[in-house]
Amino acid sequence: MRIDDVPHVFKINKEVLDSNWGLLLYKHELLDLNTRAFVYKVNDVIDGYVIAKYIGETSDLLQIAVKESKQGQKIGYKLLTYVWELLKSEGVEEMILEVKEKNEAAVSFYKNFGFKTIYKRKNYYGMRKDALVMRMRVND
Ligand SMILES: CC(C)(COP(=O)(O)OP(=O)(O)OC[C@H]1O[C@@H](n2cnc3c(N)ncnc32)[C@H](O)[C@@H]1OP(=O)(O)O)[C@@H](O)C(=O)NCCC(=O)NCCS
Repeated sequence: MRIDDVPHVFKINKEVLDSNWGLLLYKHELLDLNTRAFVYKVNDVIDGYVIAKYIGETSDLLQIAVKESKQGQKIGYKLLTYVWELLKSEGVEEMILEVKEKNEAAVSFYKNFGFKTIYKRKNYYGMRKDALVMRMRVND
């Protein structure tokens, strides 16, 4: 992901994720040496992106999103595989993420990939909106 990809990434975020990340936060992450961020681009059009960050042996998956019209075509899988393989080659041993429990598509996407739920954060996203913390280790 480059700085000039950010407006397109921001648009995908607004369409399918609606996190509170602003343009500046994406740009800030790109300047962080511990951040690994990639876009999935075909004919110069960005269909999805992934952003992960690591400290030592642990990486946090910060965001992954695919345009609605392109979901279900293994783009998310390719993005996550790419960043996970890269992080492993850099010495990362586990990846951790938080996901809304009610986001069934994302939960099942992560399970399918190999993540396991390690605990639940009650009301993390507001009343009765729990978060699952999921983890995947190199040797799982
Ligand atoms: C979650 C997301 C990144 C998955 O990307 P994707 O490209 O649509 O998913 P893929 O095609 O790579 O799917 C890989 C596997 O994940 C699972 N999966 C993906 N979408 C699913 C869905 N809607 N329901 C159930 N399982 C799903 C399936 O097991 C699938 O394998 P299969 O097609 O062989 O059954 C994408 O749907 C998305 O951007 N969602 C909105 C943003 C979001 O919720 N991000 C995560 C927030 S924490």
